[in-house]
Amino acid sequence: MILVVGSSNIDLVVSVDRLPGRGETVLGSRFAQSFGGKGANQAIAAARAGADVAFLSKLGADANGLLIERHLAEQGLLRPILLRDAEFPTGVAMILVDHSGENQIAVVPGSNGRLTPTDVLQHRELIAGARVLLVQMEIPLETVLEALRLGRECGLTTILNPAPAAPLTPDLLRLVDILTPNETEAQMLTGSTDPEEAARILTGRGVGTVVVTCGPGGAFLTTGNDVIHVPGFRVETIDSTGAGDAFSGALASAVAEGVPLTSAIERANAAGALATAGRGAQESMPTKDDIEQLCRSRMREMEP
Ligand code: RIB
Ligand code: NA
Repeated sequence: MILVVGSSNIDLVVSVDRLPGRGETVLGSRFAQSFGGKGANQAIAAARAGADVAFLSKLGADANGLLIERHLAEQGLLRPILLRDAEFPTGVAMILVDHSGENQIAVVPGSNGRLTPTDVLQHRELIAGARVLLVQMEIPLETVLEALRLGRECGLTTILNPAPAAPLTPDLLRLVDILTPNETEAQMLTGSTDPEEAARILTGRGVGTVVVTCGPGGAFLTTGNDVIHVPGFRVETIDSTGAGDAFSGALASAVAEGVPLTSAIERANAAGALATAGRGAQESMPTKDDIEQLCRSRMREMEP
């Protein structure tokens, strides 16, 4: 089982031809409200990729919280453990997507910011029953730390997707078995624009394995000195929202299955690519069949 500890949001998505500049108004062509949050997205991604998933999250005691609760129950894909905060509203994300599928996101964490280390401690049995722990950074840093600490103590493989990026202490990094920053996050964490160098810097700070994702450019993987490049996939991009979540969710799923790391990353690359081919975050998460089919298509290409 995979335990995901993380955020749930309602996404408010506007399609624009191009992203507005500072102080500029642009007209949008489409509006959609959908289900998001990096935690929920990664939990759904892992479940669609074939894993047994439990998801610990905190909603507000409001209409959006109810919507999310119903949505997750209807999907029936994972085991949601949804706590409630009486004061703070359910998380919301404002998302702009341009014609090329690039996006810009601002998140108001709301109740996600109230998921505490105590909440995690109180669900210790979930951690003890899991094989892989997957966390992101839309919940308080001390909660991420507590989850990782318990995960390590219980012998789980711990995966941290450092999104959105924030400074991480060596104490925290030492508790991470697999770190999955994208290029921008890797640069924010290390100062280096070179993904290979950034990956090495992060293992130098105590992370077991670092995987820097570069979209269609694939991913760079290192456990120390040598860096391996795992090629990406090119698909027609409609909306890149959720691509990073698809990557981390599918990676966790493959790791939980015991797939060797380079093949797990290949699957994750395929999942990330497929998520860019569909609108929104959760609704664009691929199934295990979709992922395997895309991986096989490349193997056929490579045959003589
Ligand atoms: O990674 C995409 C997600 O980021 C969106 O679903 C939005 O909710 C924000 O959390
Ligand atoms: Na998408």
